[in-house]
Amino acid sequence: MKKSAITPEQFSSFTASRRSTRAFLQTPVAPELIEQIITDGMTSPSWSNTRPFLVAVATDEVKDRISAEFLKRWEALSAARVGGLIPKIRLALTRYGLPTSNYSITKPYEPDLIPRSQKVGRDLYGLLGIKRGDKVARDASWAENYKFFGAPVELFVFTHKSLGKFAGSDAGLFMQSLMLSAHSRGLGTCAQGAVAIWEDVIRKEFDVPARYSLLCGIAVGYPSDAVVNTFQAERLPASAMTVPRKK
Ligand SMILES: Cc1cc2nc3c(=O)[nH]c(=O)nc-3n(C[C@H](O)[C@H](O)[C@H](O)COP(=O)(O)O)c2cc1C
Repeated sequence: MKKSAITPEQFSSFTASRRSTRAFLQTPVAPELIEQIITDGMTSPSWSNTRPFLVAVATDEVKDRISAEFLKRWEALSAARVGGLIPKIRLALTRYGLPTSNYSITKPYEPDLIPRSQKVGRDLYGLLGIKRGDKVARDASWAENYKFFGAPVELFVFTHKSLGKFAGSDAGLFMQSLMLSAHSRGLGTCAQGAVAIWEDVIRKEFDVPARYSLLCGIAVGYPSDAVVNTFQAERLPASAMTVPRKK
């Protein structure tokens, strides 16, 4: 095997320095650069080399139309969450804003995962000065997801339904190589499960085969110097991930 050009220390420090970017400059990203990070994503291993995923690249008016529809739906959903009876009744009657795909991600986390999810939320909102019970400010902050945090490019990743979790795993491996490639080129990225609840909006713009379903989005662009980009989510030690031996 060819010897790696980087040292183990350089690899560890490079991979650790990738952080999710949640505020982007409007600076456009060259199409060749997007193609290159996708190409780098394709160096990941894959289940029987099937590559059971697809990517829709949204830029310019297509991205803006998707974002506008997402924001309208989020507004309807958020109004029902934080507002009075009328928006709740409107949502129940029109169903406009309710998830149309991936309903499972709207369910509460299982007890073993709740503390981790709560911690990242608490830490991130804490950095942004958003108080715990301030649902309006939290929802306004979440709305940034539907603006793709200002990114000029949004990727939508779809997985082949027939391979279930194995397709999800392949897409995840692809995404990580893509995100590290982007990082090496000065680009920021943020994976976005938030967009997975309205797959129909993306299908209106892209010809996605019915055997694929939406996994998540990835915002791509040049990071701004907004405070949110200084956020450092906790990283668990390897010991937290290893299963103990049976006694
Ligand atoms: C599949 C996936 C979906 C995610 N969805 C969102 C999202 O909708 N909004 C968001 O702000 N961050 C999202 N994230 C980013 C995670 O919150 C982030 O990766 C985690 O907190 C660790 O932080 P780091 O990426 O900076 O290391 C997502 C990450 C993954 C892998």
